[in-house]
Amino acid sequence: MVSFAGGQVNLLDVSRIESGNLSLELSTFTIGEAVHQVIDQFEPVLHEKQQEFEVHIADENLMIKGDRSWIVQIVSNLVENASKYSPEGTVITVNVHRRGLEALITVSDQGIGISLEDRSQLFRPFFRGNSDLTRSEPGTGLGLALVKSIAELHGGSVSVISEPGKGSVFTVSLLAASAEEAA
Ligand SMILES: Nc1ncnc2c1ncn2[C@@H]1O[C@H](COP(=O)(O)OP(=O)(O)O)[C@@H](O)[C@H]1O
Ligand SMILES: [Mg+2]
Repeated sequence: MVSFAGGQVNLLDVSRIESGNLSLELSTFTIGEAVHQVIDQFEPVLHEKQQEFEVHIADENLMIKGDRSWIVQIVSNLVENASKYSPEGTVITVNVHRRGLEALITVSDQGIGISLEDRSQLFRPFFRGNSDLTRSEPGTGLGLALVKSIAELHGGSVSVISEPGKGSVFTVSLLAASAEEAA
């Protein structure tokens, strides 16, 4: 079980999602405001590691239609990883912007990075990197599997670019709400 300020993720959640037995509670909400909620939750966690947030919400009015609490949960998972897999004194950058039809949320860190080999397995349930740096942090390997499942349930996706030893950038792409949905 992974627990943090946003709630708890467990195997049941992942299996429910994968079997299609999870119904989303849809509403239309501003993604920037949901991201701010995650930032507020994790401020003390970062503070403990002398890490800092840099947050850029390009459009505070950018909305998506989705299950707000699940979206908060997956952004939390990404921020939690960015902090866990980065050394003290680093910066974690969270960006929200629109690109055409997409609402993009990116979480960037200056951490240990991810090898090409690991990148292909990252989103599988229970996968954990096998470096000492990864193993020294607690975890179940379910966080990213959940990010992928929830993003896909919303018709979106998650991707990563990373350079070992330099850092990682995770991007969640969701469909921006249409003008009618946002009205
Ligand atoms: N920001 C990151 N930087 C480096 N490695 C990461 C990052 N996020 C995830 N990983 C790698 O992906 C694995 C899976 O992540 P996740 O599913 O959240 O599980 P957990 O954090 O419980 O290990 C981690 O064990 C780690 O090896
Ligand atoms: Mg994790």
